Amino acid sequence: MATLSIRNLVKSYGKVEVLHGISLDVADGEFVVFVGPSGCGKSTTLRMIAGLEDITGGEIHIGERLVNNLEPKDRDIAMVFQNYAIYPHMSVRKNIGFGLRTSKLPKAGKDKRIDEVAAILGMSDLLERRPNQLSGGQRQRVAIGRAMVRDPAVFLFDEPLSNLDAQLRTQMRLEIKKLHQRVGNTIVFVTHDQVEAMTMADRIVIMKDGHIQQVGTPLEVYHKPANIFVAQFIGAPSMNMLPGTWTGGGVRLADGLTVPLPARTAAEGANVVLGLRPDDLVVTNKKGFLSGQVAVVEPLGADTLVYVGVNGHELIAKASGREPPKVGQTVALTANAGEMHLFDAKSGEALP
Ligand SMILES: Nc1ncnc2c1ncn2[C@@H]1O[C@H](COP(=O)(O)OP(=O)(O)OP(=O)(O)O)[C@@H](O)[C@H]1O
Ligand SMILES: [Mg+2]
Repeated sequence: MATLSIRNLVKSYGKVEVLHGISLDVADGEFVVFVGPSGCGKSTTLRMIAGLEDITGGEIHIGERLVNNLEPKDRDIAMVFQNYAIYPHMSVRKNIGFGLRTSKLPKAGKDKRIDEVAAILGMSDLLERRPNQLSGGQRQRVAIGRAMVRDPAVFLFDEPLSNLDAQLRTQMRLEIKKLHQRVGNTIVFVTHDQVEAMTMADRIVIMKDGHIQQVGTPLEVYHKPANIFVAQFIGAPSMNMLPGTWTGGGVRLADGLTVPLPARTAAEGANVVLGLRPDDLVVTNKKGFLSGQVAVVEPLGADTLVYVGVNGHELIAKASGREPPKVGQTVALTANAGEMHLFDAKSGEALP
């Protein structure tokens, strides 16, 4: 196992710079998830750590070693891709053992290692099967087993679950998390699914356009998003955003209504955006600081999503599943001041 340190990492393809100097320290045994929209540079970062892409600028250390100029096979990493290639003509044992093809272990040592990994993955009874005799989740475990068998310092996963159906994804997510709790390797995991990021990560790295937007624990990025992008990317449904101006005592919205808020760092008269999570909004027929007509009601079972037209905006609130309001009804919305987020309208930065 080892730490991973990335310093001012830059990547250009020809004249186009796609990664603009990102830095990150991953602790030994930490599970870090990179998340962000398509094209933001997640795979590029991972491939540079793996040694599959040249480094245009900056440094990558695995443990104490600067690995910039090391071959992938000398970096002590193992990578699992989205389109994991397991060989259909080979047994599970041979497929997992493929990870040891360059190892100098004697045959008996290799067999012992394969048995250990199969036991950790719960596949001891399946070692003689061919891939076409396995379920999708079992095949995915074979691909992970092939990476594990070398006991690498760092595991790299690039969207390994995105080809699986929804149920299997959830199951594999849990399996990978449990696996990490058991073996404790350093893991860098890439996904564009914020739920995957929230549920698995020790820390989440949120990227956009080749820049890191925020690094933090799942709860930090959820409760204290650094900017509007992070606030809307993390959490589903997305955070509601209402533009207004800062009055000193609160946010004045377009129709003149003021939502009171304790002192913030905003300047009087500044253009701001008030952020309200659907989970934090309470739908009530008593008085609230906002009110409007219910446009759509989406029952989810335990909760109900309620779309309320407020001030020319459609806000989403999560209401109880048992007695949801009806379409056309006028409702009020409230939230605790401590759960309201404020952002600078121009820069998008949070105003604490
Ligand atoms: N070989 C290449 N040549 C030129 N540009 C590339 C190359 N590979 C990637 N890019 C560009 O680099 C940027 C980052 O790509 P990358 O594959 O890292 O995105 P990603 O975050 O993994 O996206 P996705 O979620 O779609 O996998 C994109 O704009 C992409 O078009
Ligand atoms: Mg990618």
